[in-house]
Amino acid sequence: MTPRSATPAATTLPARRTRYLTRVAAFACAAVLTLCAPLADAWGPEGHAIVADIAQQHLDPAAAAQVRTLLGVEGLQRLDQISSWADGNRKERPHTGSWHYVDIPLHANSYVPARDCARNNCVIAQISHFAQVLADRSAAPAARLEALKWVVHFVGDVHQPLHAEDDDDKGGNTVQVQFFGRGSNLHAVWDGGVLRHALGLVPGPNYSFDHAAVQAAAMRLDEAISPADRTAWSAIGGLPALYHQTVSWAGESHTLARDVAYAHLDGRNQAGWSQRYQDLAWPVTRTRLQQGGVRLAAVLNELLGG
Ligand code: ADE
Ligand code: ZN
Ligand code: ZN
Repeated sequence: MTPRSATPAATTLPARRTRYLTRVAAFACAAVLTLCAPLADAWGPEGHAIVADIAQQHLDPAAAAQVRTLLGVEGLQRLDQISSWADGNRKERPHTGSWHYVDIPLHANSYVPARDCARNNCVIAQISHFAQVLADRSAAPAARLEALKWVVHFVGDVHQPLHAEDDDDKGGNTVQVQFFGRGSNLHAVWDGGVLRHALGLVPGPNYSFDHAAVQAAAMRLDEAISPADRTAWSAIGGLPALYHQTVSWAGESHTLARDVAYAHLDGRNQAGWSQRYQDLAWPVTRTRLQQGGVRLAAVLNELLGG
């Protein structure tokens, strides 16, 4: 039998007051933990940089020249320098928050635009939108550079499994977990926890990270892509086909979220779970970064090629 606490009538006033204060404190702590847990909204900056670095390696000469010209508008050189811009300006553009993901219900069978992307406020619609601006050679260079920033970022985001699902938990943001001894949440584990652990990366303040270490990791991931995978992942088709491709990439993410990310949460507060989960999640994360990079290059080659 579960031991019961004493009835209120049997307790003294100071004891009741202490219990009340304890409850208030517990509630406040829980609220603070929930509110202050990092509300992760994208691959961390390292993940986006890896996708951008892999893509940079595989631009056609014509696309590379256009990318160089557009980046040059702001004196920049490489795609990884713009890959997290979309996260950096979230406070000034609150309406763009939902552009980073698509909330396909975790147990739904497929993407339903009217349900999952109302008023085009999701990553699938926004990739198509900004791809059109980027491809428009008559648009102002500054507008095309901004479109490039969104496309580079969102092609990464749509490959993050938890950016294509929702289980009434903000894509896993409200699922608290202990990951390698630190309080985190399921979404943050997939945004950055798993890849940082696998690659030995330590994040710095304000989205900063060790560019050299991340670039080296990206090159290792790129070299490990088989020729057959690279060919399969590079098949994009024209602009209209890009929409169907992004739906398909979101579908892959959704399946991985359901079958991997959410399917192995049992025992998540017990010793040993983090390593078991890491061993399942890293191969998936690794492939998604590789696919994101190869597909981003294919998209840019398609939109900016000669
Ligand atoms: N907020 C609500 N759903 C989300 C998702 N799938 N990814 C990131 N943030 C979200
Ligand atoms: Zn994002
Ligand atoms: Zn995220």
